[in-house]
Amino acid sequence: MRPAGELSGSVTLQGAKNSALKLMAATLLAEGEHVLRNVPRITDVEIMSELLTSMGVDVRRAPDGALLLTQPGLGACIPEAPYELVERMRASIVVLGPLLARFGRARVALPGGDNFGSRPIDMHLRGLEALGATFDFAHGVIEARADLLMGAHIVLDFPSVGATENLLMAAVLAKGTTIIDNAAREPEIADLAAFLNQMGATVEGAGTSTVTVEGVDRLGAAEHEVIPDRIEAATYLAAVGVAGGEIIIAGARPDHMDMLIHKLGSMGLRVAEVSEGVWANRAGRRLTAVDVATLPYPGVATDYKPLLVAMLSVAEGVGVVTENVFASSRYAYVAELQRMGADITLAEHHAVVRGVAHLSGAPVKAPDIRAGAALVVAGLVAEGETVVSGAHHLDRGYEDMAAKLVGVGADVRRV
Ligand code: UD1
Repeated sequence: MRPAGELSGSVTLQGAKNSALKLMAATLLAEGEHVLRNVPRITDVEIMSELLTSMGVDVRRAPDGALLLTQPGLGACIPEAPYELVERMRASIVVLGPLLARFGRARVALPGGDNFGSRPIDMHLRGLEALGATFDFAHGVIEARADLLMGAHIVLDFPSVGATENLLMAAVLAKGTTIIDNAAREPEIADLAAFLNQMGATVEGAGTSTVTVEGVDRLGAAEHEVIPDRIEAATYLAAVGVAGGEIIIAGARPDHMDMLIHKLGSMGLRVAEVSEGVWANRAGRRLTAVDVATLPYPGVATDYKPLLVAMLSVAEGVGVVTENVFASSRYAYVAELQRMGADITLAEHHAVVRGVAHLSGAPVKAPDIRAGAALVVAGLVAEGETVVSGAHHLDRGYEDMAAKLVGVGADVRRV
């Protein structure tokens, strides 16, 4: 890519990756044909489709683009998640809760670490144990059993998104009441609860720190539309932040991005709600640096961080970025931004970003999805040509990123 001046026009959001994957897993809870609309066409969705297919689920796209997932009867499903798929996508662990709830047993390969450090699942397992599950570990596989899941009061040590989702999906078919305290509050949790309720579950409080579930005996197939992807929205906000101009992000939900919009406002990017979604504008002046600390929702999401670092790289002033969600600090892309001339100093879970007037285009490598997106954003204003390799990471989370950027006037080519 090369700088192409200010951006203008409109870009339409895909459905949220981090919601779609969990909704697909949730279909394991009930026999029949489920319909999910607005599921993005990305590699992670393909991996989840492969995983469900390997369990005996029929997954296909309807002519109108909806994802149809047909769950076979109890006897025809194999409640197993093999290593070769779990290893490709760590979020696969989210099948554990629904498999235990419907089949009373599951074999799920243990996910390894990924390139932002190890991600433990102790809270998932402790919560499921509180509901009555037992676990054995052998040969890298979790053998899970639960003859009867019983509602319980679970207090999470940290509002983990994945643990909250796994527990929610186990609790809907447990006997009695489950209360999950210190639950994650991300919009994707509320989306999952809405789908579960559509299936016949009784979930209250999703989106707050206390989620209450009244177990039911059985659930049925349901239809649901995935919420828009707030991290994709943040990507295009970062793009217009660095390049300047005025764009519409169609489908964006500003109420899912309050804190981010506030931060961006302090940096000099104007963002407003419009009927199509959000409107964003930066005219004239460079962005102004601010400090940023990632926190569980409603705080600034850790997934926004690489995008904010890319913006701070070209802002006026110094911004201190602090990672509070992941213990290992997820700064692998910083070395790549430094190759483009960014002035960033790392100290434990902090990054001190001193804005420079100009970045310079260079060959760089995408280490993961959002870091790759941040390198693309930086490339939009780096003098000369930037070539981001490892673009398959982008395909894991973004449907057609290059085409969408071209649509708002950027000079980006996928080779
Ligand atoms: C999800 C998102 C990811 C996002 C993250 C935090 C998906 C597919 N991924 O990941 O993009 O960055 O939320 O918003 O939705 N932890 C434990 N023990 C556990 C579980 C988590 O210690 O059992 C720790 C993790 O190491 C991490 C923190 O809790 O430090 C938050 O992780 P969590 O919210 O669970 O993230 P994921 O659900 O894996």
